[in-house]
Amino acid sequence: MNPITVTNQTILITGAAGFIGAATAKAIMTKYPNCHVVGIDNFNHYYTVKLKQLRLTELRQFTNFTMIKGDISNKHLLDRVFSKYHPMIVINLAAQAGVGYSISHPDNYIHDNILGFYRILEACRHYQPAHLVYASSSSVYGDRNTVPYCTDDKVDHPVSLYAATKASNELLADCYAHLYKIHATGLRFFTVYGPMGRPDMAYFKFTKQILAGKSIELYNQGKNRRDFTYIDDIVEAISRIMLLPADGHRLLNIGKGHPETTIDLVTNLQSALKQSGLLPADYDITAHQTMLPPQPADVNTTYADTSDLFALINYQPQVKLRDGLQRFADWYRDNHHLFKEKPTKKTQHTQIC
Ligand SMILES: NC(=O)c1ccc[n+]([C@@H]2O[C@H](COP(=O)([O-])OP(=O)(O)OC[C@H]3O[C@@H](n4cnc5c(N)ncnc54)[C@H](O)[C@@H]3O)[C@@H](O)[C@H]2O)c1
Repeated sequence: MNPITVTNQTILITGAAGFIGAATAKAIMTKYPNCHVVGIDNFNHYYTVKLKQLRLTELRQFTNFTMIKGDISNKHLLDRVFSKYHPMIVINLAAQAGVGYSISHPDNYIHDNILGFYRILEACRHYQPAHLVYASSSSVYGDRNTVPYCTDDKVDHPVSLYAATKASNELLADCYAHLYKIHATGLRFFTVYGPMGRPDMAYFKFTKQILAGKSIELYNQGKNRRDFTYIDDIVEAISRIMLLPADGHRLLNIGKGHPETTIDLVTNLQSALKQSGLLPADYDITAHQTMLPPQPADVNTTYADTSDLFALINYQPQVKLRDGLQRFADWYRDNHHLFKEKPTKKTQHTQIC
């Protein structure tokens, strides 16, 4: 397949006010100033909308950006957007994210991830963009002992509804690619972190709790291992992959390729918070942590085989955990007013992926 040229073309990004969506939009507009990015987001309340507005404020600095507030499950909205802009590339990042939340809020996952994604596929069927790139997740691999995870591995045993919706997206995309000649690439992201990240994720919640003088809880005794992948590495990979349409449907892992434990995460986070001046030099995290058993639906180790990714785009995630966390801590120092903890409300969902 020939690479896509995006000059004077429109790229549609769903979930554009989200963590990965906003960073992707920004990176693409910086790299390709002659393209037009249209974002869609319903600004759901899964976490503070103030953070989504902050991301949007940054995106609005770009003159080649248009934001549409709306829901991807709305067929008429998608029809209007596709018929008006005829996007050359569609990047679907809108979804209800989070593993733990899918236990208490299953309806959101079916609505956003199944119905919403089906609507995107239907729009692609009718308007035939050159490439559909969509977010899947490392969670489709379920709990398994063999690492690293390869896209050839069987993924027929998801251990959360979230994972089941992502695995379903892959099947639906495969079917649409086969039946309607859509060129689609599914990206299995591995634990993405960084500035403007999702407040439900472990590194973010730990930061808030540590700075509020609270003790943090480490599930599975802090031994869960994740392939922490810095946001800039994710968006660099997306901005390269989007130009290379799949011949049908393909799946790629985007992960660091090097798993680290929750204890590694916390140790590096402590150093970053000290370095950014948010914690005193003599703070000792080991005196403020509680070890707990594993959570239901949690997966012990996730770790990506990125050889296919490297072969395709000649790029591999590079940012080290300590450096990425330092950039997060510096950003948090300047924006923590957005995330003041309400003293009486206990937040319940900590996501490690
Ligand atoms: N962040 C990670 O570590 C990670 C890991 C694996 C997969 N993913 C996937 O990557 C994608 C982006 O994740 P994120 O971390 O940026 O999450 P996010 O919650 O920050 O972003 C998702 C955005 O989509 C919007 N949205 C949700 N449902 C919508 C709908 N029906 N219509 C329009 N907008 C809708 C939300 O308002 C939100 O702004 C998601 O598909 C997620 O499942 C993320």
